Amino acid sequence: MKGAFSFLTASALTCLASSSTIARAELDALVKRASPQAPNGYAPAPVDCPETRPSIRPAAGLSNSETEWLEKRRANTIEPMRDLLTRININGFDAGKYIDDNRDNVTALPNIGLAFSGGGYRAMTNGAGALAAFDNRTPNATSAGHIGGLLQASTYIAGLSGGGWLVGSIYSNNFTTVQAMIDQPGETGVWQLGNSILVGPEKGGIQVLDTVQYYNNLYDTVNSKVEAGFNTSLTDYWGRALSFQLINATDGGPAYTFSSIQDDEDFRNANAPMPILVADERAPGETLISLSTTVLEFNPWEMGSFDPTLFGFAPLRYLGSNFTSGELPEDDRCVRGMDNAGFVMGTSSSLFNQIILNLDTVEGIPDFLRNTLKGFLSGIGQDNNDIADYTPNPFYHYNNETNPSAQTKRLTLVDGGEDLQNIPLHPLIQPVRAVDVIFAVDSSADTIENALNWPNGTALIATYERSLNETMQNGTAFPAIPDHNTFVNLGLNNRPTFFGCDANNMTGPAPLIVYLPNAPYIYHSNTSTFQMEYNNTERNVIIQNGYNAATQGNATLDTDWPSCVGCAMLSRSFDRTGQQVPDVCRQCFDRYCWNGTLASDTPAPYWPELKLSAVNVSGKSGAAIFGPNMVLSASVVGFLLFW
Ligand SMILES: *[C@@H]1O[C@H](CO)[C@@H](O)[C@H](O)[C@H]1NC(C)=O
Ligand SMILES: *[C@@H]1O[C@H](CO)[C@@H](O)[C@H](O)[C@H]1NC(C)=O
Ligand SMILES: *[C@@H]1O[C@H](CO)[C@@H](O)[C@H](O)[C@H]1NC(C)=O
Ligand SMILES: *[C@@H]1O[C@H](CO)[C@@H](O)[C@H](O)[C@H]1NC(C)=O
Ligand SMILES: *[C@@H]1O[C@H](CO)[C@@H](O)[C@H](O)[C@H]1NC(C)=O
Ligand SMILES: *[C@@H]1O[C@H](CO)[C@@H](O)[C@H](O)[C@H]1NC(C)=O
Ligand SMILES: *[C@@H]1O[C@H](CO)[C@@H](O)[C@H](O)[C@H]1NC(C)=O
Ligand SMILES: *[C@@H]1O[C@H](CO)[C@@H](O)[C@H](O)[C@H]1NC(C)=O
Ligand SMILES: *[C@@H]1O[C@H](CO)[C@@H](O)[C@H](O)[C@H]1NC(C)=O
Ligand SMILES: *[C@@H]1O[C@H](CO)[C@@H](O)[C@H](O)[C@H]1NC(C)=O
Ligand SMILES: *[C@@H]1O[C@H](CO)[C@@H](O)[C@H](O)[C@H]1NC(C)=O
Ligand SMILES: *[C@@H]1O[C@H](CO)[C@@H](O)[C@H](O)[C@H]1NC(C)=O
Repeated sequence: MKGAFSFLTASALTCLASSSTIARAELDALVKRASPQAPNGYAPAPVDCPETRPSIRPAAGLSNSETEWLEKRRANTIEPMRDLLTRININGFDAGKYIDDNRDNVTALPNIGLAFSGGGYRAMTNGAGALAAFDNRTPNATSAGHIGGLLQASTYIAGLSGGGWLVGSIYSNNFTTVQAMIDQPGETGVWQLGNSILVGPEKGGIQVLDTVQYYNNLYDTVNSKVEAGFNTSLTDYWGRALSFQLINATDGGPAYTFSSIQDDEDFRNANAPMPILVADERAPGETLISLSTTVLEFNPWEMGSFDPTLFGFAPLRYLGSNFTSGELPEDDRCVRGMDNAGFVMGTSSSLFNQIILNLDTVEGIPDFLRNTLKGFLSGIGQDNNDIADYTPNPFYHYNNETNPSAQTKRLTLVDGGEDLQNIPLHPLIQPVRAVDVIFAVDSSADTIENALNWPNGTALIATYERSLNETMQNGTAFPAIPDHNTFVNLGLNNRPTFFGCDANNMTGPAPLIVYLPNAPYIYHSNTSTFQMEYNNTERNVIIQNGYNAATQGNATLDTDWPSCVGCAMLSRSFDRTGQQVPDVCRQCFDRYCWNGTLASDTPAPYWPELKLSAVNVSGKSGAAIFGPNMVLSASVVGFLLFW
């Protein structure tokens, strides 16, 4: 059998990538958000280069593609924004008139970003509840007390790890709704989390594959990439397995690429926000990921980083091509198909790829496959079993002085939360994107004593600390964030909290953060990050809990909450236009803005109580697959405690 990293020449494959396959795929792309554009299924393959040869660009600004798209997107957010703001009726403020007075100059109006943290299926489902609340297509989301339309009014939507499954899944399925993902006419709902990813999709669910067929499929697709001459890692298996749960296509759509989103007619017309997934770089020799680690983003056009280290972007569609010093040598062909949608989602969540090693608990797995997967461990060492391998490094010999991987043809990425920045704020605080407000849904598991798995501000603290590092922050500013103890003592992790309300109290332009922590509204949604099975009852109740967190129980916990959401949306815009802040908004800011108070003593045990009536999920208990057999590297064991 071929070794994990066996390297073949790709020349044998050139014939597979006929231009007609691509033309057909591009036609398909016109009807689906993400589509099977890869020339040869899961395996990347050489193709003819476009007339303008792809190259690496410096991160000094936005890509032309994003800039052009933004013009349409900002304009398209105006109507949904006007609709939402007039619906929530900010007392004493004519929101309709304000929008109309400024609609000729859209930069005066709010520029909104959404961010969904990591935290496994807990983060995916809790985040889905908030996303459903933001989405005007969700039944009742535009009723009084709800906030539907925020999604349609947003410019960006970022996801990381479990939050990346949410965002990636929605965009890989034609920007569908959360509701559609869980609706199951004839059991065809897409998010079937009742069967562990180790066992494969349920019979009668979206796929009818038994476990052996499922593993053979994973093996065959990943092996096709090996045979095409590309390095693979556990993340390839993990991403393929995830695709079965997240992408509604036969065999999890092995040819679906993340870059195909750029060709979708609706996305091109800017009818949906721009999706961004986040990962960290693991530089050569680096084992522990620190706050100074390079943070990378994947968006529909590009992959790269604004950090001063890498400071460059590669065209996502042509990942896998042999870029050197930012260019593709004249005699080299282009490669497409490396940015498989599942692989990109798997990269952002690579901390979980070791789940796939927990095979001993599953019956019927062929021995050769068991051995292949375990072979990865001996091949790369346990400290590295969370990597996603992006060889050939598109940033080879690029920015030699600062880029930590400039001298190696290998580029390895890991889970975007490994630097503790578990909310994907990094792409949204870049000054060139000029985001005014970020709705940050935090489903992190930070608390380690007493009640486990609730957030305590760790992710925000990390991003704040990074913004204070002169070397790394590179022009990004971030609101002041208090310590963990203050979060717990003041309950900032138990209810919505705004940070950075005063734009003048910052080192530079920075967005207002609307922090929406996971807390118990109708269910104790602090399930383990590594719980790999959720029956539909529990899945749905966590989604509903997230909905209630985002809407404050549809305004039953605070009748002014929808107005306060509107005030947060408008705050920076008010500053720009010199608009007097309405009284209702002042009251909102008094209530929800962190005012600088510290309470840093060790807090009492955090045992949050339900804020609304409990919902019953009784029945037989769903087992967590994360068992004692799992093989973990030392660096990862630490993360299990507070993910
Ligand atoms: C994708 O969504 C759009 C609008 O929501 C819809 O018009 C179109 O039919 C959908 N395409 C597919 C292939 O489902
Ligand atoms: C647009 O609005 C911005 C922010 O309020 C302002 O700085 C700029 O001058 C305005 N441009 C025009 C053409 O009015
Ligand atoms: C929508 O609201 C109506 C009226 O309040 C209610 O009967 C219905 O159950 C709600 N639907 C959902 C999906 O919550
Ligand atoms: C999943 O695919 C099936 C079959 O094509 C389709 O009927 C269903 O609407 C899709 N679900 C979603 C959420 O897109
Ligand atoms: C700031 O970042 C630099 C460069 O990555 C790093 O070496 C340094 O340790 C960081 N400083 C602090 C205080 O974290
Ligand atoms: C960010 O980093 C790049 C590359 O090191 C540098 O050229 C640029 O001036 C930096 N920007 C700011 C605002 O510091
Ligand atoms: C890229 O370089 C590798 C190693 O030199 C080579 O095997 C491969 O064929 C090249 N890819 C293309 C598309 O030329
Ligand atoms: C980067 O480093 C490589 C290897 O040392 C060298 O060949 C290349 O010319 C350098 N690139 C630049 C732009 O200096
Ligand atoms: C907050 O979370 C961090 C990270 O898990 C943990 O070390 C710390 O003890 C927690 N503090 C409180 C007060 O919950
Ligand atoms: C809020 O509305 C959602 C969606 O309609 C519903 O599921 C939820 O139960 C409502 N919450 C409360 C507290 O009524
Ligand atoms: C204002 O800025 C100072 C200095 O960064 C900080 O200590 C303080 O907490 C900030 N106040 C608020 C309310 O954010
Ligand atoms: C679903 O899972 C929950 C949590 O493990 C459990 O309490 C409940 O009994 C299960 N419900 C069914 C119908 O299996």
